[in-house]
Amino acid sequence: MQETILITGGAGFIGSNFVLEWLEQSTGPLVNVDSLTYAGNLRNLEPVAARREYSFVRADICDRARMDQLLQEHQPRAIVHFAAESHVDRSIVGPEAFVETNVRGTFVLLEAARAYWNSLPRENQPKFRFLHVSTDEVYGSLGADDPAFRETTPYAPNSPYSATKAASDHLVRAYFHTYGLPTIITNCSNNYGPYHFPEKLIPLMITHALAGKPLPVYGDGLNVRDWLYVGDHCAALRLVLERGRPGETYNIGGRNERSNRQVVEAICEILDELQPASPHCPHKQLIQFVKDRPGHDRRYAIDATKLERELGWQARETFSTGLRKTVQWYLDHPEWTSDVLSGAYQEWIDRNYKQRSQDGAHSDPDGQQRSHECEG
Ligand code: NAD
Ligand code: DAU
Repeated sequence: MQETILITGGAGFIGSNFVLEWLEQSTGPLVNVDSLTYAGNLRNLEPVAARREYSFVRADICDRARMDQLLQEHQPRAIVHFAAESHVDRSIVGPEAFVETNVRGTFVLLEAARAYWNSLPRENQPKFRFLHVSTDEVYGSLGADDPAFRETTPYAPNSPYSATKAASDHLVRAYFHTYGLPTIITNCSNNYGPYHFPEKLIPLMITHALAGKPLPVYGDGLNVRDWLYVGDHCAALRLVLERGRPGETYNIGGRNERSNRQVVEAICEILDELQPASPHCPHKQLIQFVKDRPGHDRRYAIDATKLERELGWQARETFSTGLRKTVQWYLDHPEWTSDVLSGAYQEWIDRNYKQRSQDGAHSDPDGQQRSHECEG
């Protein structure tokens, strides 16, 4: 067994951030296995592409023979499994790809990992780790006064996305209990930061606001998410990989609950400040309330006490410092955004938002006009 780790989905949002930080800290060789769906972008990894400790393999996690071959070839000490279909709205429009990658793909990877692990010398088997990167959405939706999700909260997924992630979590758990494969599951809240694909709330609002396009807030905008800067998630994953206990689950979250309205307004305020000469100032005038997401979970909140107490993890970014960094990153990387806004992505935007606007977009759910001046 080598010092190498093998990760899946490393060309996506969180995976890219994980790879860049891993190699920046010279933590050891890393093999990135990604099939490059619309969400995978090798440009994110250009800074490390030539590094000796890094290699990229284009492969689908559903391809069992390929997974077997890669594990035998690289002899990793751990697998960190990010690869997934990750967008809730897409899962509502087309759930099949989610079942394929999130459920069957995770199953195939687990089977390949089990065969590889069985082939290891006995003394190396306890050192191996299968770290499954999952989501808080498996716990379902909270009421306003409910306590935050704990590791013991029963699963109650509500979207095809969260149902397939829940199914994958159950498989990972079963492989520990049944076969002894040293698996660990992490369930994290909403991430944001650099390289976030602009179909998700925060990058979509930033890129739309910069272009003077409407900012489509679903429903009344009072759904709450618990935001975590992506670098804090990656730090937690490194810690769990080194010191987490096999068979355990760790919740990861930043204790940064915000309603979607608060998030969008905060983005607008930062842009007003950083781009005072923009013709789109005040950016809040671009907000439009549109038809809600079906089955829209009302509130997520993570109780990360176990991770904090057992492994000493603490988020470094507050929502305000993390959001400012993120907006600045999009301002500094316009070419990254224009590159990913390809024809295929435009088709998705047209499909997702056309229907919502036909159902009557308006600028405020109470029908009130908004008037804000740019500051600075
Ligand atoms: P993403 O959609 O940005 O990236 C997913 C990556 O997986 C892409 O590079 C894609 O090409 C790759 N991929 C998809 N199907 C594949 C397949 N069959 N074989 C190989 N590669 C494949 O996702 P993300 O936001 O970076 O999320 C990564 C993981 O973290 C996911 O498992 C997600 O469920 C989980 N997660 C995400 C968040 C969040 O807020 N984004 C929060 C908690 C957990
Ligand atoms: O909680 C973790 C999860 O967070 C991850 O597992 C998912 O992979 C990730 O996509 C994210 O899921 P959400 O559905 O919470 O994220 P999204 O960015 O799609 O939406 C965040 C909130 O913003 C949600 O309440 C829906 C709302 N929204 C989203 C979009 C894209 C809008 O109001 N308008 C929009 O245009």
